[in-house]
Amino acid sequence: MTLFRHLARQCAVEAAAVFLVFSIFWPFYFLRVTEWRWPVVCAACGTLAFLIARVSRQPWWWQVIHLAFVPALWAGLQLAISPLWYLGGFLVLLLVFRGAASGRIPLYPSGARTTPQLACLLPDKAATLDIGAGIGSLLLPLSRQRPDLLLSGIDNAPLPWLIGLIRVHKIGIRWLWGDFWRHPLAPYQAVYCFLSPTPMSALWRKACREMWPGCLFVSKAFPVPGIIPECICRDPEDTAERDTLYVYRIPARNREGDPENILRGNEYKPRGEA
Ligand SMILES: C[S@@+](CC[C@H](N)C(=O)[O-])C[C@H]1O[C@@H](n2cnc3c(N)ncnc32)[C@H](O)[C@@H]1O
Repeated sequence: MTLFRHLARQCAVEAAAVFLVFSIFWPFYFLRVTEWRWPVVCAACGTLAFLIARVSRQPWWWQVIHLAFVPALWAGLQLAISPLWYLGGFLVLLLVFRGAASGRIPLYPSGARTTPQLACLLPDKAATLDIGAGIGSLLLPLSRQRPDLLLSGIDNAPLPWLIGLIRVHKIGIRWLWGDFWRHPLAPYQAVYCFLSPTPMSALWRKACREMWPGCLFVSKAFPVPGIIPECICRDPEDTAERDTLYVYRIPARNREGDPENILRGNEYKPRGEA
C-alpha cells in the first residue's frame, strides 16, 4: 500500500471517531445549555478512534497513536505555545526522517557489531556502496578497518546527509546526495543496506538488473523475501537477531537480458583471490 493510501486510511479512522463523538455530544451539551467539557470529549475521541483502529485491524502502533492523538492535541493547546514551534519541530523531523515519510525507511544507525562482520565479507579493493548511508555510522569505521575499499554512501534526508558530509569529507569516502532508486548500482562490487522490510524485493530486483553477476548484496536485519541468501552472518550474543547480515550474490544473467554486462565479465572474487 502506498504511503498516501496508508495515511488516508488513518485519517479516515480519526475523522470517523471525531464525527461520531461530536454527533453524540453536541445535542447533549446543546439541550442542557452547559459548557463543553473538552477533556471528556477528547478522551472519548481518543477511545473511539482506538476502538475503530482495533476493530479494523490497524497495526498496534497506529492503535496507540489514535488513542493518544486527540487528547495530546488538547493538552498541547493548553500549553499555549506558539504554533511556529510546532511547525519548526515538524520541519526538523522532516529533515531528519525524510526517508520514513517518503519510503517507510527511518534513520537508524547500524551499530558497532556490524562493521567487523561486514569488513570480513567484502572482497579486496571492492567498490562498496552503503544505500541510505545516514550519518556515515557504518562507512566511517569501515574505512578505518578496511582502507583498501573504495567506499561510497548515498542518502536523501537533508540533515543526516549534511552531518555525514561533515564527518567524512576529509576521508576518501564518496558522499552522494540523492534517491538510491535513481542511483546506478553497476559500478559497485558490493552493496550494503540497512533499510526496512518494505523496499527489499524491489531493491533486490534493481540490484539483479544493474549489478554484475557474482557481486555481493548484503542486507542487515531485513532479508529479501523468497530469496535464499548465500550465507547468514549472525552473532550468537545477538539474541534479538537485529545485527544479522543476509548475504546474497547477484546471479548470472540471461545473455539476452543484458549482454553488455556479461561480455565485460566483472566477476566477484573473495578476499585474497583477487
Ligand atoms: C536505517 S538507516 C541506515 C543508516 C546507515 N546505512 C547505517 O547503517 O548506519 C536508513 C537510511 O536510508 C535513508 N533513505 C531512505 N530512503 C532513501 C532513499 N530513497 N534514497 C536515499 N536514502 C534513503 C534514510 O534517510 C536513512 O538515513
